[in-house]
Amino acid sequence: MQNAPLIDPFARPITYLRLSVTDRCDFRCTYCMSEAMQFLPRAELLTLEELDRLSSAFISLGVRKLRITGGEPLVRKGILTLFQSLSRHLASGALDDLTLTTNGSQLARYADDLAACGVRRINVSLDTLVRDKFAAITRWGKLAPVLDGIAAAKAAGIRVKINTVALKGFNEDELFSLTDWCAKEGHDLTFIEVMPMGEDMGDALRLGQYWPLTDLRARLASRYGMTDVPLRTGGPARYVRLDATGQHIGFITPLTHNFCESCNRVRATCTGQLYMCLGQNDMADLRAPLRASADDAPLIAAIRAAIARKPKGHDFDYSRASPAGTGAVKGQMPRHMSHTGG
Ligand code: GTP
Ligand code: 5AD
Ligand code: SF4
Repeated sequence: MQNAPLIDPFARPITYLRLSVTDRCDFRCTYCMSEAMQFLPRAELLTLEELDRLSSAFISLGVRKLRITGGEPLVRKGILTLFQSLSRHLASGALDDLTLTTNGSQLARYADDLAACGVRRINVSLDTLVRDKFAAITRWGKLAPVLDGIAAAKAAGIRVKINTVALKGFNEDELFSLTDWCAKEGHDLTFIEVMPMGEDMGDALRLGQYWPLTDLRARLASRYGMTDVPLRTGGPARYVRLDATGQHIGFITPLTHNFCESCNRVRATCTGQLYMCLGQNDMADLRAPLRASADDAPLIAAIRAAIARKPKGHDFDYSRASPAGTGAVKGQMPRHMSHTGG
């Protein structure tokens, strides 16, 4: 049946698509990109119409949550047109959630229009509230426009979740100030364990910076008191409530607690490659079937064939360097995180 839902070999329904609309970004976060990234020629990219068609095919197959990612999605030319056209799926009830993950740099400009497209919540990456540290971790970024963008989103009625990559020796000292700032501003906050992605960035960087969330969580619990909550957003985060502030804190723990068994998502890149797992190399080309015919049948067949080989999970593991002498980390992915938008 052409519209039967997508179920992978481990009986997991695939209901969440992360769509990267560009590999470009106006920042160069050290754990995400190398300083001298080679970007794709623009001619390689799917057009905005093709991105819409691709997303709509997934939605016809039961995807209910669509997250637009990058690179930085808001640097893609004409991006608002894509949100405007995709919002029809919210109106029809086919989609529950149309959202994005952004670095916030362009948000002040787009917040009102995104809200008008039905975007109700967004995730903004922010690892520090200190200007000079922000400039260092993003290599090129400026903190003030990001804070303005976050404020604009809040003013537009969009709920903001801050994503903070936990980095030993970098933002350990800001654990409480970030938490207090989010409590004061009314933002949700999620911490993420740094993942070994990107071959030429030196594993020393991420091995040395790896800060297990088990430790971070214990520090939060002793300061604020903590209660587990069953809240789920369809993403990999697990949530607690801080007793002292009442706010929800999320933990994304690909290293200390593998959440792959409940994986419900796949990732499409801006050239139409479908990655069935963030931590594996296998992918399927969807651009050729998309362009082969104005009819969606070949595209849908290619999507089904890809989902049929979705792997069980990633193999990230900092405790095992492999193979001896190469300096690599077990399960490391040569791909940069910016390629698939996290
Ligand atoms: P919500 O729960 O909807 O707020 O979002 P999310 O956590 O799915 O999305 P977000 O873009 O905020 O991603 C946060 C982090 O989680 C990023 O670093 C992602 O790479 C990471 N992440 C999301 N899905 C997976 C996954 O399947 N595997 C791994 N290892 N990491 C993931
Ligand atoms: N490990 C963990 N998170 C990462 N992100 C980018 N690179 C990495 C990495 N190596 C995060 C960004 C953003 C999200 C999409 O992915 O900070 O919040
Ligand atoms: Fe850009 Fe996001 Fe990667 Fe930072 S994490 S370089 S903001 S894509």
